[in-house]
Amino acid sequence: KEMNLEERFQQYVDAENKVEPKDWMPEKYRKTLIRQISQHAHSEVVGMLPEANWITRAPSLRRKVALLAKVQDEAGHGLYLYSAAETLAADRMDMVEDLLSGKAKYSSIFNYPTPTWADIGAIGWLVDGAAIANQVMLCRTSYGPYARAMVKICKEESFHQRQGYEITMTLAQGSPVQKQMAQDALNRWWWPSLMMFGPTDDASPNSAQSMKWKIKRKSNDELRQEFIDKTVPQAEFLGLTIPDKDLKWNEETGHYEHGEIDWEEFYNVIKGNGKCNKQRLIARNKAHDDGAWVREAANAYAEKEAERRKK
Ligand code: ACO
Repeated sequence: KEMNLEERFQQYVDAENKVEPKDWMPEKYRKTLIRQISQHAHSEVVGMLPEANWITRAPSLRRKVALLAKVQDEAGHGLYLYSAAETLAADRMDMVEDLLSGKAKYSSIFNYPTPTWADIGAIGWLVDGAAIANQVMLCRTSYGPYARAMVKICKEESFHQRQGYEITMTLAQGSPVQKQMAQDALNRWWWPSLMMFGPTDDASPNSAQSMKWKIKRKSNDELRQEFIDKTVPQAEFLGLTIPDKDLKWNEETGHYEHGEIDWEEFYNVIKGNGKCNKQRLIARNKAHDDGAWVREAANAYAEKEAERRKK
């Protein structure tokens, strides 16, 4: 019986139908989605930290306004995603606690520091550029609430990417010192951005099943390649150099070939030993504790309202 349901589910997904919260779904499909969506939500929330670091030091009012809006957008993305996970019967407080205790994963990329203003440019250009490549694909994911959240998120991410590219362009066309700042930031963020897409396909334990269920529509390596092909010409346009001596255009395949990614660094970061993992969790825990009064007030208000409605 169970087998039949699973087969029917696969057929339903193969026919490009969206799965909705009340539909029957295999338990493992539900668990995989909760895992991926909650990790994604945590990434959006932790992703605010490296950039928030520069809000008070943005070089002009215009830059400050754009950065503030962008960081706020990331908070909103986290909220849509926690809500999407809740439609799968995940408990929000459990998810938040797993993040705060260090049990849950979030994207490796947010464990790198932002020592200069040029890093804010590099994050928008590269990190948000990589996020878009991944999330455009997720707009077609088989789970309805996740797919719909992604459509709105992608629109905002493209603004983030452009503001980052514009910051980098301004620096790249500025004084030699400014151009060097942009180059240094590209050197810092290039390889970690490639790692964002996750392990290579043959080392990715979740990919095969997630592709079969159409949770993922493109593999980690496919998306990484798309990102490289799109970004190399952007760096050339800026007169900056991608820090990969093995990077070369392959006329036959129509793609860039790249050098070896340092997977040891990747696994080290996701195990909690990156440059900023500890700092990020301390900052998240402090923000959560500082916000306790807001949650308490909102709950007290909700209770009062419920009482009033009963009368
Ligand atoms: N950082 C941290 N962990 C990662 C990363 C990464 N860059 N890439 C892969 N992993 C983890 C996976 O979560 C998985 O962990 P788990 O099995 O313990 O849960 C493990 O490494 C093995 O990887 P895969 O089998 O390839 O995992 P998966 O099929 O989930 O693919 C991917 C990983 C591509 C990140 C996928 O989960 C995804 O598309 N997520 C949604 C997008 C997202 O989270 N983006 C966050 C950054 S963008 C932003 O926030 C602005």
